Amino acid sequence: MASSSTVIFTTLFLATLIASSKANFNKDFAITWGDGRAKILNNGDDLTLSLDKTSGSGFQSTNEYLFGKIDMQLKLVPGNSAGTVTAYYLSSQGPTHDEIDFEFLGNVSGQPYTLHTNVFAQGKGSREKQFHLWFDPTKDFHTYSILWNPQRIVFSVDGTPIREHQNIESKGIPFPKNQPMRIYSSLWNADDWATQGGRVKTDWAQAPFSASYRNFNADA
Ligand SMILES: *[C@@H]1O[C@H](CO)[C@@H](O)[C@H](O)[C@H]1NC(C)=O
Repeated sequence: MASSSTVIFTTLFLATLIASSKANFNKDFAITWGDGRAKILNNGDDLTLSLDKTSGSGFQSTNEYLFGKIDMQLKLVPGNSAGTVTAYYLSSQGPTHDEIDFEFLGNVSGQPYTLHTNVFAQGKGSREKQFHLWFDPTKDFHTYSILWNPQRIVFSVDGTPIREHQNIESKGIPFPKNQPMRIYSSLWNADDWATQGGRVKTDWAQAPFSASYRNFNADA
């Protein structure tokens, strides 16, 4: 009897722990810029960023992370999103910062977004890799994940790994592993370079542009 009540108690305790640790944008993130253009909605379940000719907007995590698996669902700017960039990344601070980046470069209607990834270690990046997605990222929410541990960084989309960056410090190449990072995201205008090298400009008649976030999860 004692052992079965222990099992029940433990199960209830774990269930409470899981329920109370459910992510919430009000608790886990802070809006950092955009003068009202970023909004947390539905009691913290949803967040939207927007961009118009005057400003973009952004947010950052309350916590810092040193290793973990971090998932976020995003739905990107629909229609003619050329010139807009939705950046979603982990970063530490300072001149020798580390950074792990997803950047979504908008495109003219009907043309694919470019998913740009990069890894900075000790302030140095230049490890860009670009992808085209196998779905329209503006129609529905999709899960973008970063798995970061001392051996590797894996970028995944809907659970499918698209890029693996190995720790090869044994060959003298720095790897992010000492500096805790925050999660950041912003929606901004980058029509000087983002779409087809800056040839396609943002169509402000389509503004405000907006991107949505939900179901954040960190196993850190
Ligand atoms: C936009 O579409 C063109 C044509 O399909 C493609 O070459 C380009 O990579 C796409 N992405 C960006 C950001 O320009």
